[in-house]
Amino acid sequence: MSNLKGKDILHANQFSKKDIDVIIKNASFFEKEFKKREFLTLLKGKILATLFFEPSTRTRLSFETAMQRLGGGVISVASAESSSAAKGETVADTARTVAQYADAIVIRHPRLGSAKEAADAVPIPVINAGDGAGQHPTQALLDIYTIYKELGSLKNLTVAMVGDLKNGRTVHALAELLSLFQARLYFVSPDLLRMPKEITSGLREKGIEVVETEDMFKAASESSLIYMTRIQKERFVDLSEYERVKGSYIINRDFLDRLKKKIIILHPLPRVDEISTDVDDYSGAAYFRQMRNGVFVRMALLSMIFGKR
Ligand code: CP
Repeated sequence: MSNLKGKDILHANQFSKKDIDVIIKNASFFEKEFKKREFLTLLKGKILATLFFEPSTRTRLSFETAMQRLGGGVISVASAESSSAAKGETVADTARTVAQYADAIVIRHPRLGSAKEAADAVPIPVINAGDGAGQHPTQALLDIYTIYKELGSLKNLTVAMVGDLKNGRTVHALAELLSLFQARLYFVSPDLLRMPKEITSGLREKGIEVVETEDMFKAASESSLIYMTRIQKERFVDLSEYERVKGSYIINRDFLDRLKKKIIILHPLPRVDEISTDVDDYSGAAYFRQMRNGVFVRMALLSMIFGKR
């Protein structure tokens, strides 16, 4: 049994290497089960509430698929406008209400710290599905599962993270998990969108080699994996700043041809223009496989918080 039973999932830093090992094993188990296309009964009688106060396709639907494949039920809020948040209800009060109906909550909210606020208000497990520019720990876990599957190991990695590192909660969480495996990290961004200082200094304090650069080609040349991110227009207060940095980094076939080596490309998706569609049939383009892995990892996590694995 894992030590996740009854726990919240709020931040990547709550996971150890051993936890990740168990999650990978469980995700692999559920990947095999999923291929049978049958409903399991592991979470029969349990209800998951998915509360999404920010848009989502993958995270909400993969959590809901995962819960239903495990035999549980789902109730859902798909937007802030369709819930009493639109009338001014606080996150804590919404969570208190939903805890009367459901056995666990998955929440996405535009404000940093909101998932923790929900978790503090209720006795049931709360999973952070993205809190503003903060964290997205289940995305990082599915990224790790994907890296493991694509490269066969999590050891001795050099990873280039590219794009909006300031606002990208997926890279904040993934950098944390990769640090457990002593990965060497390139952070590639325009100056305006650099990885927050507290994250880079925290990584360096742990002995992680971090290189900050604006040169994507150099970083990719020295990496086995490139993690692209979207420049997040919705987080800019001043849209003229967005106009200044949009389209800063684009991977296309020409870029890959110049690289002269195979590289694995991940992206949490959705993409805008940072990966050209002519890359989609490149053998290292793993972002659609990555998105599919989300279901297996979330099946693993749900079964673990309910004490079934
Ligand atoms: N990766 C991710 O969080 O995608 P969605 O915004 O579609 O959930």
